[in-house]
Formats: sequence, structure tokens, C-alpha cells
Amino acid sequence: MEKHQDVERIMLGERKIQKRVKELAAQLDKLYEGRTPLVVCILKGSTIFFADLVRSMKTALTIDFMAVSSYGAGTTSGELKIKKDLTTDIKGRDVLIVEDIIDSGNTLYNLKKMLITRVPASVNIVTLLDKPARREAPIEPEYTGFVVEDEFVVGYGLDYAEEYRNLPYVGVLKRSVYEK
Ligand code: IMP
Ligand code: MG
Repeated sequence: MEKHQDVERIMLGERKIQKRVKELAAQLDKLYEGRTPLVVCILKGSTIFFADLVRSMKTALTIDFMAVSSYGAGTTSGELKIKKDLTTDIKGRDVLIVEDIIDSGNTLYNLKKMLITRVPASVNIVTLLDKPARREAPIEPEYTGFVVEDEFVVGYGLDYAEEYRNLPYVGVLKRSVYEK
């Protein structure tokens, strides 16, 4: 596989990711059998994972998009900035949040808390990557693609300064790129 010059090493290749996405889709199909979940893409990092995941799911579903950030690093105190809200009323709906990576967990912790105030039937989280070593907030995804070490990764939706999202694999970014 052709590796980008700024990538130190490929952590998860295309085939490995696609295989795991299909496994997750099958598990989610089972979970949501007979229901119609609202699958929520958290912009922008989740777009690629989301597009592959929903196309592998066979259950009836609807989709929506949200852009959020949490105020101030290292805070679970609740300041969630909604840059783009859902257009769907989630009251009574089964909500599946699709995330790219859970790091401190602060964003997702605050987001889940906020969504629950809208009285959905359920809220589950599926994340492509989990970096449990960095967790600050008490949040655990129901479904995880891969548990990864504490290294900065890009590709398959994940960025550094908005670049590298279109790489088809997940790779460790060279330190020289962000230490210059
Ligand atoms: P947190 O869990 O609230 O700390 O924030 C998670 C967000 O941080 C993710 O949605 C990513 O946008 C970003 N992030 C964390 N670790 C990485 C990484 O290794 N590469 C790219 N983005 C990352
Ligand atoms: Mg990001």
C-alpha cells in the first residue's frame, strides 16, 4: 500500500478496517432488529467510517449529522458547543452515535448527557477507535472498532489540521509534522 510521506507507519490497513466495519454492522443489525435507529454522524472525523458503516447495515435506519466541541480542554463540567445540531426530533428514537475516536471522552460524555435530555428511547455509541489510556470522562462506547495505543493517528476521516482525512487507512503521523 502506498504510504503518505507524513505517515510514520500504517496502523490499520484498508482491508483490516473494512473487515471490522462489516463485523460491527452485523452486530448493530442484530441489536436494532425490528427498530429503525437514527444513526448520527459526528462531523467531520466520522464521515468516512459512517458512510462505510451505514452501507454495511441492512436494518432500516435514518441518518443525521451533528458538529460539536467541548469548551476548554479537560472538562467534564458540561460546556458543550453545538456547531451544527440534528434536524431530527429524537424523542422516542433509538439513537446510535458514530464517532471516529474517543480520546479524553469529554466531548462524547457531554454530548450523550445533552441528547438524553431530549428523551430518546436509547443512546448507544459506536467508535472506530478508542484510546482508553487518555480517558478523563466516565464514558464507554458500546461498540469499538479497534482499541489503540496513545499515538496520534490520521486517515479514514481523522485529521491533523484538517488534512489527511482522505487517506484510506489509519496511520501514525510523523512527529516532525506537528513538532515543527
Ligand atoms: P475527546 O474524546 O473529547 O478528547 O475528543 C475526541 C476528538 O479528538 C476526536 O473526535 C478527534 O477529532 C480528536 N482526536 C483525538 N485523538 C486523535 C488522533 O489521534 N487523531 C486525530 N484526531 C484525534
Ligand atoms: Mg478532529
